[in-house]
Amino acid sequence: VPAEDHVIVLFGATGDLAKRMLLPGLFHLARAGLLPARNRIVGASLSVLTDDEFRRHAKEAVAEFGLAEPTGEAWQEFANSLSYSPVTPTDPRPLVDAVAAAEKTLGGRPRRLYHLAVPPAAFTPTIDMLADTGLARDAHIIVEKPFGTDLTSARALNETIHAAFDESQVFRIDHFLGKESVDNILALRFANGLFEPIWNRDHISHVQIDVPETIGIEGRAAFFEPTGTFRDMIVTHLFQVLGFVAMEPPTSLAAKHLRDEKTKVFEAIPSLDPTRVVRGQYHGYRDEPGVDPQSQTETFIAARVEVDNWRWSGVPFYLRSGKSLGQKRRVVTLGFKEPSLRMFALDPDNPTVQPSNKLVIDFDDPGWIRAHFLAKEPGAAMRLGEATMTFRYADSFCVQHQLAGYERLILDAMLGDQSLFTRADGIERLWEVSTPLLEDPPPVEQYTPGSWGPDSVDRLISPHHWYLPESP
Ligand code: BG6
Repeated sequence: VPAEDHVIVLFGATGDLAKRMLLPGLFHLARAGLLPARNRIVGASLSVLTDDEFRRHAKEAVAEFGLAEPTGEAWQEFANSLSYSPVTPTDPRPLVDAVAAAEKTLGGRPRRLYHLAVPPAAFTPTIDMLADTGLARDAHIIVEKPFGTDLTSARALNETIHAAFDESQVFRIDHFLGKESVDNILALRFANGLFEPIWNRDHISHVQIDVPETIGIEGRAAFFEPTGTFRDMIVTHLFQVLGFVAMEPPTSLAAKHLRDEKTKVFEAIPSLDPTRVVRGQYHGYRDEPGVDPQSQTETFIAARVEVDNWRWSGVPFYLRSGKSLGQKRRVVTLGFKEPSLRMFALDPDNPTVQPSNKLVIDFDDPGWIRAHFLAKEPGAAMRLGEATMTFRYADSFCVQHQLAGYERLILDAMLGDQSLFTRADGIERLWEVSTPLLEDPPPVEQYTPGSWGPDSVDRLISPHHWYLPESP
């Protein structure tokens, strides 16, 4: 539990992210006893609301999207900690007053934490306003994704931030890094002697990072049209997961060491080759409200990425994500090379048997890990069949107390721990490697909703195959 008293200012407090994730997440943290004993939460947005109207808005959000009902003493206490201030970049006075009032209630000098859950266009004016009013001093700031739209804009945003905040005050959030099972990649690799010795090009033939989604754009055309799946998912979540899968063992889990190693992975990724990228768009996307009937925005991306370093040279990483696909999954699959000598004939009657070993890490909430290998089928003949060993969080641990990605990360920001947040240099490098694709994107190929994307994704990964085993 953070020891420091906090005043949390939630910018974008009436927006979609606050409604679905942040307000329910803050209440969940409060109920779990993980907020500082003394804290105030100030909602801020363009809307004009009273404190009570904001409390009602928060209650509805928690009732619809939260894990626990907003009732009883726990809710009352949480609701009492909420207040609201309308804010425009040209008139910051109501916010300055609201923060002062919250601080007065707490007494002393509470830590200020700003969460910028606002559209990208509002980042710069909000940060400038925090700098001009002096509110930035000694504060922590959580900045939402997408962090820029290309290298130039990401650099400009970092400059704006650094004019007001020291890098040690900045928490660029990527909620995938707060997911238990993404974090567990570090434990799996570096807490065990079993996996790390084979975690390299000598044993691994290819890696898949696959995050299909079933939802479409859910009315988010204003956000999605200029963004697309590459900026929304790949340059953010999937590359961050790749960083954890591919990094060298860090000297320690301290933020500097962890982020140094992640950045080194990004430095080893050569610029993306647009001929090794498939961009897709689901049939019907152009008919969605707010979407250009000629739109070239991709709702699907598959890309082949290399990591040119000692450990990974020659091992392709295949990344795939898209909307309106067959299943919602988040899966990393490591495909292992075949043994040096094949002593066992493959069974011609059973062509589905996959000759290679695989390690599948599914980062559903909370997810599972499964090793796929070959074993002898019982009986007189030496026949092989596919066998599996599966770890499920719920079998080994009590998952009742798990935190959602956002909750974990907001807590870390209050504790001042930047380990699971992205750093300026890492983000800029990811935009740099993306530049050839952003400048010369291949045309979008149409795909049927509910499918696995355009047919050409299979050619992209050949001679391997996309591998998405059923959940246990
Ligand atoms: C968000 C994207 O960051 O992540 C969404 O903006 C996407 O488009 C979502 O649907 C996926 O997150 P999760 O946790 O549901 O896998």
